[in-house]
Amino acid sequence: MIEVIGLQLIRVNNLTKQYKQRGGLPLIVLDNISLEINNNETVGLMGRIGSGKSTLGYCLLRLISSFSGEIYYNNMRVDQLSQRAFRKQRKKYQIIFQDSSSSLNPIFTIDEQMREIISYYEIVSKVKINNFIDSALEEVGLGYDKKERYPHELSTGEKQRVCIARALLTEPEFIVLDEITSSLDVINESRIIELLKTIKQKRSISYLFITHNAGLVADFCDRVIFLENGKILFEGDKTESLDKIKSYFNTHEVSA
Ligand SMILES: Nc1ncnc2c1ncn2[C@@H]1O[C@H](COP(=O)(O)OP(=O)(O)O)[C@@H](O)[C@H]1O
Ligand SMILES: [Mg+2]
Repeated sequence: MIEVIGLQLIRVNNLTKQYKQRGGLPLIVLDNISLEINNNETVGLMGRIGSGKSTLGYCLLRLISSFSGEIYYNNMRVDQLSQRAFRKQRKKYQIIFQDSSSSLNPIFTIDEQMREIISYYEIVSKVKINNFIDSALEEVGLGYDKKERYPHELSTGEKQRVCIARALLTEPEFIVLDEITSSLDVINESRIIELLKTIKQKRSISYLFITHNAGLVADFCDRVIFLENGKILFEGDKTESLDKIKSYFNTHEVSA
């Protein structure tokens, strides 16, 4: 068998996260999770509400700490890095949340918010910032006339596009998409999915796509991981997984 070296982008070994509960047993939110995500792969992460999907995404980006297990990016162990050392790596790994309104700062224009990130990471020189922001907005289908607006002056779909543009500024290799289309109507949802596909093709990004929508997984993902109570219940190729997901929801009447 020929091994393709360097295919793996992320490797997680035995990730466990628990919260202390007052006067009781600890609440185990992630229970010994091991997984891998390859370069240029879209992995769907499904499971009922409270199954640990967001927590897994947050651990991967070290937005929450004090978990046990190992996380590797490009064969480099990152869970033991200091926050400072991880910050240098951090720009390669991004997350976009469901609620674009609270992800954006209401008191700054889109231009100001993007400018701040570009300066922080020193992405381009000052003279190039204007053009850089214009083309970042263009890539997500927003005219540059939108950049002087405040978040409340944009529609939900436009705000989510701004969040995508902002995440792309640092040229990430990996993006966690945490239910990012859940607040959108069906038309905007499918437009955002098409946009994410185009971006992936152009930039070779891997996505962890958290969703409760099996139809979107069928359309968008290469592979599926399904969580139940913090454990991987099953994972695999999307065609076989979708049958399992269907029968899971037929036997568990509670919605995702
Ligand atoms: N900061 C926290 N303290 C205690 N419990 C938490 C905390 N954050 C999440 N949880 C619990 O962890 C479980 C998983 O939550 P989450 O990862 O948000 O699930 P999902 O994204 O699949 O809906 C839930 O039971 C939730 O209540
Ligand atoms: Mg969640």
